[in-house]
Amino acid sequence: MGYFVNKTIWLTGASSGIGEALAIALAKEGAQLVLSARREDELQRVANLCGQAKVLILPMDLADIKDAPAAVDKILSSFGRIDILINNAGVSQRSKAIETEVSIDRMLMEVNFMSALTLTKAVLPVMIKNNSGQIIALSSILGDFGLPLHSTYAAAKHAVNGFFESLAEELSDTGIGVSIISPGFIKTNVAVNAITGSGSRYTIDSPAQQKGMPADVCATKILDAMMHRKRKKYIGRIELLFVPMHQYAPRFFYWLMRKLSKG
Ligand SMILES: NC(=O)c1ccc[n+]([C@@H]2O[C@H](COP(=O)([O-])OP(=O)(O)OC[C@H]3O[C@@H](n4cnc5c(N)ncnc54)[C@H](OP(=O)(O)O)[C@@H]3O)[C@@H](O)[C@H]2O)c1
Repeated sequence: MGYFVNKTIWLTGASSGIGEALAIALAKEGAQLVLSARREDELQRVANLCGQAKVLILPMDLADIKDAPAAVDKILSSFGRIDILINNAGVSQRSKAIETEVSIDRMLMEVNFMSALTLTKAVLPVMIKNNSGQIIALSSILGDFGLPLHSTYAAAKHAVNGFFESLAEELSDTGIGVSIISPGFIKTNVAVNAITGSGSRYTIDSPAQQKGMPADVCATKILDAMMHRKRKKYIGRIELLFVPMHQYAPRFFYWLMRKLSKG
């Protein structure tokens, strides 16, 4: 491909799932990587899967970012540049709105939305100075509609869409590209790792995820969207039809969702 060779790419949520698959795929393409998530041991495991690629492990809790500019300085002192930021980290939800503690709502907004905004604002001055760079935001088809048990997760992904679409327009006259990636069902532990209303881990896998697109296939499609500097890209299988169905046939959409949720 050549596009990613020697690019410095900061990837959040790199310790599992789509982020792990992205790290491996980008390493194969010759990128140098900065891997962030909370679990340092898992980041090290992923770094070991990245072959000869230069990797900086930068653990951080995105629910409580202490000093994003200091993290940017650390990357610049290791690599001298930041070409691409991929805001991939996320945590899903399995709880009714009424049963979700407000502190959990805040955490879901922090990890799924505010962290992406915060890191983006920290790297943008570097990219603006160079008049080049790319910001990638992982949204979801739940950025287009809401579903029971996902209220704050869906709200955060709607916020991702609104913020990054506006930012893309603000940067349209510059050399900086912004891409929103909206996956459907990808085979990862996102459902197992989802948070309940009291903040415990849900621990139960979802059949939709189990039957979903493999994470490495998803990663290849994300790389393609990045290379083509796509503004918006949906990635998944038949579930992507939910998006136009929700827009053009909402009564049928909600009938179908209730039917599917009853199994
Ligand atoms: N899988 C799907 O079907 C699907 C569909 C639509 C959208 N997405 C989106 O795709 C992205 C990746 O999800 P995935 O499916 O790969 O799920 P995953 O396997 O659960 O990975 C989530 C990643 O986010 C990190 N993370 C979670 N909370 C964090 C925190 N407080 N601070 C720092 N890092 C944190 C996790 O690392 P640590 O636990 O080590 O911190 C992990 O690396 C998410 O934004 C998700 O919303 C996924």
